[in-house]
Amino acid sequence: MPWYYAVAERDHEIQDPTSADKIRQLGRLLRLGPESRVLDVACGKAGPALVLASEFGCHILGVERAEDFVAAGRERIAKAGLTDRIEIVEGDASAFPLEPEAWDATLCLGASFVYHDLEGTLAALAPAVRSGGFVAVGEPYWREWPLPPTVDDEGWVTLPATIARFEAAGLAPVGLIAASDDDWDRYESLHWRALEEWLHANPDDPEAPGIRERHERNRDVYLHAQRRLLGWAIFAALKP
Ligand SMILES: C[S@@+](CC[C@H](N)C(=O)[O-])C[C@H]1O[C@@H](n2cnc3c(N)ncnc32)[C@H](O)[C@@H]1O
Repeated sequence: MPWYYAVAERDHEIQDPTSADKIRQLGRLLRLGPESRVLDVACGKAGPALVLASEFGCHILGVERAEDFVAAGRERIAKAGLTDRIEIVEGDASAFPLEPEAWDATLCLGASFVYHDLEGTLAALAPAVRSGGFVAVGEPYWREWPLPPTVDDEGWVTLPATIARFEAAGLAPVGLIAASDDDWDRYESLHWRALEEWLHANPDDPEAPGIRERHERNRDVYLHAQRRLLGWAIFAALKP
């Protein structure tokens, strides 16, 4: 039985509700160039790293825990001829040693849970960036507040309150790059198609009912609440 996300994210180039264009926008915002050294925490299949290294020539070290994603990422890096620019270390990023002031930019796109939450992520990553460098985090936020009583806030807050968390961490916000409805729909639809195709090809797999149940539950939550209420953005901030 494959791991749920290895199936669900089989076709994702980037495993977040964003696009290659928006990742290039992030690279310009962070002033990346051939001399830049970037740490990408929970880099997935190296989607953002491939875009940034090919566009800006920067050096990126990704840390990723999922064996399937590490293998897929390394294959894509080799195929793109970027092995001299991108390296992936396999392991739990929360245990990865963060040397002070070692990076021009640190990224954590869609994975602040690695350090428990956004505050934990900023507390971990800010010291690892040189003065004048940047921390960028891709994080959900609520578009409406208060939420309907049936919706759990899951620790996420509104857009201004998210920005305030960067300021509270001693960082100066320099930009945000928000997901559009199209970005969200593409990200979610790729899950639906991959899971439906897997279920179609494996109807007798003992795990199929569980996979279907999880897939339909996620789809319902998206359609009934998240599509309207949940935003996602990459927030970038300068370290003074
Ligand atoms: C939403 S995906 C984002 C991947 C990538 N940043 C991107 O934008 O394409 C979250 C990633 O976090 C990884 N992950 C989860 N916990 C981790 C941990 N403790 N250490 C390293 N990676 C982790 C998952 O395997 C997954 O690849």
